[in-house]
Amino acid sequence: MAEVEIFEVGPRDGLQNEKRLIPTEQKVALVECLSRAGFRRIEVASFVSPKWVPQMADSDAVLAGIRRAPGVRYAALTPNMKGYQRARAAGADEVAIFGAASEGFSRANLNCSIAESLERFAPVAEAARADGVPVRGYVSCVSDCPYDGPVAPGAVAAVVARLRDMGCYEISLGDTIGQGTPERIAAMLRAVLEEVPSERLAGHYHDTAGRALVNVEASLELGVRVFDAAVGGLGGCPYAPGAAGNVATEALAARMAELGHDTGLDHSVLAEAAAMARAMRAGAP
Ligand code: HMG
Ligand code: MG
Repeated sequence: MAEVEIFEVGPRDGLQNEKRLIPTEQKVALVECLSRAGFRRIEVASFVSPKWVPQMADSDAVLAGIRRAPGVRYAALTPNMKGYQRARAAGADEVAIFGAASEGFSRANLNCSIAESLERFAPVAEAARADGVPVRGYVSCVSDCPYDGPVAPGAVAAVVARLRDMGCYEISLGDTIGQGTPERIAAMLRAVLEEVPSERLAGHYHDTAGRALVNVEASLELGVRVFDAAVGGLGGCPYAPGAAGNVATEALAARMAELGHDTGLDHSVLAEAAAMARAMRAGAP
């Protein structure tokens, strides 16, 4: 069976959008459950401004609180050097710089232009290289922007090329507001593949319009084998009004199994984690 890796982003992309402040112990319990499911990488923290995203303010406590499973890399978002230093101090195994293919979203999400964001990422990527910390790159709004509308594939490819040049080992392509269609995702991927081979790409598809799974299938056809997902379909982005959660990990894992792709995940542990995630969203104590 061809292998597909699911990169679990629920504890970060999923929880960052929850209005109710979720106690650190509950986040730790979710990450520990996910650690038993067979993921190789789990995004658990975000070292952004706590004024911008209060839900992620306890990211250092989450990293300190989890029992780390062998073979799992625990990842964190780092928008600038301050974030990188916090992530290092907290012991994140890998970090991610996150840009956008549209100016409107870059301004709303990072309070700066695309060019300025790339200037802030460069020293993060450099420091990480010197420290031997893997850096992942994200590009948001690879299909549509909540502020600027449809995004041209060439604009995505241009940011991907910059992140590649900074040394990102993998670049995750975000359909942030989940409006992409398989045809448009394929067109975007074809442009991006001119810059980076499929082995260094990941699909990060939110499920707002219910098309995340078909967009994954379109990406599989073009050779992409890593997909981000959030257990329980948690999430959204605070700076993308109306954005729903990521594709649900358990739904993606089930679909991959149907298509004959091995994800190496334990579906019963995933179901347990999904129940925990849904209870957190519902505001259970
Ligand atoms: P800014 O206000 O322009 O930054 O924010 P600044 O450098 O002027 O700093 C302002 C204040 O923030 C200062 O504090 C800094 O110390 C502090 P003050 O002096 O006012 O007390 N600060 C920080 N504090 C802690 N950690 C830091 C940090 N940096 C500055 N790292 C900034 C710029 C990037 C910080 C801000 O815009 C921000 O935090 N944005 C985060 C947005 C975010 O987290 N969005 C969600 C994640 S992205 C996403 O979900 C998309 C993705 O899933 C892919 C997809 O779906 O498309 C990845
Ligand atoms: Mg996202």
